[in-house]
Amino acid sequence: MLSPQALLGALLLSAVPSALADTCQAPIDHPGEPYSYVQPRNTTILADGHSLSVLPSPNMTGNGGWETALVKAKRFVSKLTLEEKSWMATGQPGPCVGNVLPIPRLNFSGLCLQNGPQCVQQGDYSSVFVSGVSAAASWDRQLLYDRGNAMAKEHKAKGSHVILGPIGGPLGRSPYDSRTWEGFAADPYLTGVCMEETINGMQDAGVQANAKHFIANEQETQRNPSYAPDANETTYIQDSVSANIDDRTLHEIYMWPFANAVRAKVASAMCSYNRVNGSHSCQNSYLLNHLLKGELGFQGYVMSDWGATHSGVASVESGMDMSMPGGFTLYGEEWTEGSFLGKNLTSAVKNGTVEVSRLNDMIVRIMTPYFWLGQEKNYPSVDASVGPLNVDSAPDTWLYDWKFTGETNRDVRANHSAMIREHGASSTVLLKNERNALPLRKPRNIVIAGNDAGPLTQGPNLQANFEYGHLAGSSGSGSCRFTYLSTPLDAINTRARKDGSLVQSYLNNTLLATEALTSPLWIPQQPDVCLVFLKSFAAEGEDRTSLDLDWNGNAVAEAVANHCNNTVVITNSGGVNVMPFADHPNVTAILAQHYAGEESGNAIADVLYGDVNPSGKLPYVIAYNESDYNAPLTTAVETNGTWDWQSWFDEELEVGYRYFDAHNISVRYEFGFGLSYTTFDLKNLKAKDSTPANLTALPAKRAIQPGGNPALWETVYTLEAEVSNTGDVDGFAVPQLYIDFPASTPAGTPPNQLRGFDKFHLTAGEKKTVKFELMRRDLSYWDVTAQDWRIPAGPFTFKAGFSSRDFHARKTATLIKA
Ligand code: NOJ
Repeated sequence: MLSPQALLGALLLSAVPSALADTCQAPIDHPGEPYSYVQPRNTTILADGHSLSVLPSPNMTGNGGWETALVKAKRFVSKLTLEEKSWMATGQPGPCVGNVLPIPRLNFSGLCLQNGPQCVQQGDYSSVFVSGVSAAASWDRQLLYDRGNAMAKEHKAKGSHVILGPIGGPLGRSPYDSRTWEGFAADPYLTGVCMEETINGMQDAGVQANAKHFIANEQETQRNPSYAPDANETTYIQDSVSANIDDRTLHEIYMWPFANAVRAKVASAMCSYNRVNGSHSCQNSYLLNHLLKGELGFQGYVMSDWGATHSGVASVESGMDMSMPGGFTLYGEEWTEGSFLGKNLTSAVKNGTVEVSRLNDMIVRIMTPYFWLGQEKNYPSVDASVGPLNVDSAPDTWLYDWKFTGETNRDVRANHSAMIREHGASSTVLLKNERNALPLRKPRNIVIAGNDAGPLTQGPNLQANFEYGHLAGSSGSGSCRFTYLSTPLDAINTRARKDGSLVQSYLNNTLLATEALTSPLWIPQQPDVCLVFLKSFAAEGEDRTSLDLDWNGNAVAEAVANHCNNTVVITNSGGVNVMPFADHPNVTAILAQHYAGEESGNAIADVLYGDVNPSGKLPYVIAYNESDYNAPLTTAVETNGTWDWQSWFDEELEVGYRYFDAHNISVRYEFGFGLSYTTFDLKNLKAKDSTPANLTALPAKRAIQPGGNPALWETVYTLEAEVSNTGDVDGFAVPQLYIDFPASTPAGTPPNQLRGFDKFHLTAGEKKTVKFELMRRDLSYWDVTAQDWRIPAGPFTFKAGFSSRDFHARKTATLIKA
């Protein structure tokens, strides 16, 4: 372990001294003062707003199945020179969004890291899958696995070794965060399942997954520091926002999905842009050394988000293993040549500031997943066509002479479009369906309205909030390049032609919302149905300022409904929209389709026409008013102190539905809600076996494996219930289990927390048994004193049903006696 003096010395020897004001783990109540001590490892109790130092960074052990790969990685690393090791920990501009240089003498062709969470971002002739939020809305484990697996096959065929995804955070603390669509659900349990299935799918295809963004990256505003106007000036004007979180919330909400990711043996994790409890995520030794590598037993490597490295030695000692994009550093929004690592890391090792054993562990961590997944054997070369599509480092910025082999412009789509169409339909959430509006029954006269219905008008890569065009993905690093896009306009016209229907389209929102509808456009007779397609754009870099639909969408919905007595509204949005038009008596149906990928149009037509019975469920809450949501983003810091951007996560565990339930606030559509064309019932919730007699409140201390103490992942209690399809059509049921913890659980425990779900097909009248297997972690809270997961004493109430507010059966049980 480094002594306090050595650590401070190390900081001062770091690459860019003027950036060192922050390299310490500065407690936020003493901004600017270097931390003058190093907290001994076993006393790391996280205080709210302070991040403690935990050193040294644990070496990987290969635990949990990577032992053989570890041996190969160590052998490989033993052949590297110091310079090669330093550069392997440091990115380089090149064809992929992140590049690790090849080492031809060792037959190592380098690493290609590519975005992202919905597709191969830089891929022509590749597929655009359903977005993360859509996949989460499916509540379908198989779908999540298949999506991850197919996406990874495309990445592999284009030569990517690492996919920069999936996203466990932002989790959706606030609906205004603009990247929640890249991730999954505003709930740690559901997001955890999504992470695990996606990672398994990706890595089973031989591609490394990357769990990002670690951690509490819950807003875009001030995610990066602001710098003085001169790009070479490294002094911050103001540092990036600090997410200040208490220990229990960190464990039970934000870290929870990352624990699932680590259990799935995710190859890498990306430390985020924001600070956490006063210290940058990528140099926060409490987060990286203690929680991620220590408590969770993470065996892979920590890579920085692009430009999230703010120090050399401090980051390395704090557990960051790879700095991206490396050869360049982000100052404000400008990329400047030079890295905190690279040759500075070589010097730090040479002058003894960083021990070579730490550098060795960094490279061993980077290379073990590579060997574990067999990426050294016949891995496809990087397709040259990805280079010119690279928005992070254009070809004229490349320093290395990258060589390309193999076919260019590879078509990697295989037959994925059929699957994407199915996924798009099964993730669509039916929110309202009155007067039997849906499914459509050969309507004779159809109106298609709204600027979201038609083709893309500004190119295949959605880089902004364009007025015209169907929104099936969005912008930023999670953006995709559509090889083709099935739009609602196309898909519905195709259906309508078969039925001989009349179709009238009105795609101009301004016209719809203002002038034209003073007298109805559609003559001669009242349409049978008006399908209104509306959208809202959310993308990296800038948070949402409104939860309304864009382009005057609410007014369009109202105006159409004023003239059409069977108005069906379909939204394509990154997340929450408040929906005032839902109260309009002529709005008979509403569907939330989110960003549904390249088959979006066909998928929505499948649902509208009843070929697919909708089964998606909301992965967040739709409130009545914007003002009903808690946890506002930190956007209006009007003082100019360096460390003034502080975001206090004071709502603690009351994230999403947990808040609405704790305060009994009525909502328009609750978490977990979604209609079907049939109806379901659930009854007889009971324990499968008797309560284990010898269950202890704290888990047995077992050797840490990926995911943490394996005792946390053992099923300790199983419930089952009978689910039946009570309607007259076949459909998919999504039974859900929520837990109300015993009264002995510390204050602030939300009344309902999702801890189990399943999805299965039931023919009309059919019954099946659903089983909810509860693992120790599911039944525990994080005890900040014991620093462990504790099953509380006293009676639990288990509630099962079809949403967070639709419980059909309850059961109480005491697992631990008081
Ligand atoms: C920044 C984003 O936060 C991250 O998700 C992405 O992978 C990198 N840029 C690279 O594009």
